[in-house]
Amino acid sequence: MDTFVIEGGRRLSGTLRINGSKNAALPLLVAALLTDEPVTLRDVPDLADIRNMVRLLGELGCERIAAPDPSVLTLKVHDATQSHARYDIVCTMRASISALGPLLAKRGYAKVSMPGGCAIGERPVDLHLRGLRALGADITLSGGDIVARAPRGRLQGAKMFLGGQFGSTVLGTANVMSAATLAVGTTVIESAACEPEIVDLANLLNSMGARVTGAGSPRITIQGVDALRGADHTVIPDRIEAGTLMCAAAITNGDLVLENCPLDALMAAREVLSAAGVHIAELGHRVAADPMRVSCRVTCDRVLKPAEFTTQPHPGFPTDLQAQFMALLTLADGNSIITERVFPERFLHVAELSRMGARLLRQGATVVVQGVRQLVGAPVMASDLRASAGLVLAGMAAQGTTIVHRVYHLDRGYEKLEHRLCAVGARITRIDDKDLPAADA
Ligand code: UD1
Repeated sequence: MDTFVIEGGRRLSGTLRINGSKNAALPLLVAALLTDEPVTLRDVPDLADIRNMVRLLGELGCERIAAPDPSVLTLKVHDATQSHARYDIVCTMRASISALGPLLAKRGYAKVSMPGGCAIGERPVDLHLRGLRALGADITLSGGDIVARAPRGRLQGAKMFLGGQFGSTVLGTANVMSAATLAVGTTVIESAACEPEIVDLANLLNSMGARVTGAGSPRITIQGVDALRGADHTVIPDRIEAGTLMCAAAITNGDLVLENCPLDALMAAREVLSAAGVHIAELGHRVAADPMRVSCRVTCDRVLKPAEFTTQPHPGFPTDLQAQFMALLTLADGNSIITERVFPERFLHVAELSRMGARLLRQGATVVVQGVRQLVGAPVMASDLRASAGLVLAGMAAQGTTIVHRVYHLDRGYEKLEHRLCAVGARITRIDDKDLPAADA
């Protein structure tokens, strides 16, 4: 299994481009199931989750048309008879659940293995099912699979409330919104997720001929159409990668220019960075047509200040940046308070950061971070994608060597992260853990 060996204490400086968003690209890829024509996506990151999704779509009869540029993916349905998303793929990637709505809407039938829990918590799909049932789907659970049928082959538009105990659901909104594009009549989703990835999906669906309005607000209206066509679409840049690299600049006292950066999608995170003494300066004039893609320079004060934040659905502070910001605030001069309101159990990185000398006190869904002067390198275990990113940040700031085991979690969401960080001054080596000295293995 791959492991990172990180030599800490090196200041980052230089320019990095933000890649296309993983979480936007996954439901965009699935939208190819909604049409018989080819769908082309540009700036798709090269990640394990994306490859798994393309594999799943292949099993569902959607073939990839080869292109010379690996970041361009063209998919086209050639066989609409396969509607079973099997457990062995679904268990590698929860986002497979996004195939349920499009399959049901286009083929009238879907069988998708029920995703299990994962390191960040239980992660139910009840809201996905509630929304699809509201569209008239008949849904049962059989042998661990969700089996869904549209009566007489077609879903019916409906008005529904899609909020749950923890607020809106991102992939649930994507599922229902995608399914409703081919339903008979009008669908209104109240308490829809407002994430930029939902806006990106609505933009693709509209360019395929769908009639979606209100995406980005809690009320999305979809007027069903009879068929969708192919489209050519560029994926939005990854706000979580951007936020992670902002933390990388800050935690190393560095100076990074981030190009293709979706600053408008990071307002809550920017507030916290600003409170901590991290400066983000927009460079040049915005291209009016595309405020999601700017260049900015990230620098910080020598001593970070403490800060407080609570994760919430967008436009609140993103849960996917909680671990990275916790790593950053371990070095602030004072006490910070972090509360997790989206996945209250998402704290596996707390114990690992503590191994590096961080002072963290967890009480339920809140962690008090007592800033320390220095982190110390140690062997640590990556537990989930974003927690791994937090450990890499901590390792870059720590004194000495940090060994991050199980970086396959990180590879699910960050394309060649170590190469990019090394290009701006980090010292990170990827090795097979079989090659580690026995004491560190
Ligand atoms: C997506 C993101 C993930 C991010 C999360 C929250 C993708 C591929 N993944 O996951 O990186 O951390 O949004 O921003 O885009 N919930 C229910 N019932 C449901 C669905 C969700 O109770 O049917 C709960 C969840 O347990 C969680 C909250 O709602 O507490 C939000 O989850 P949700 O927005 O659905 O997360 P995902 O879309 O799975």
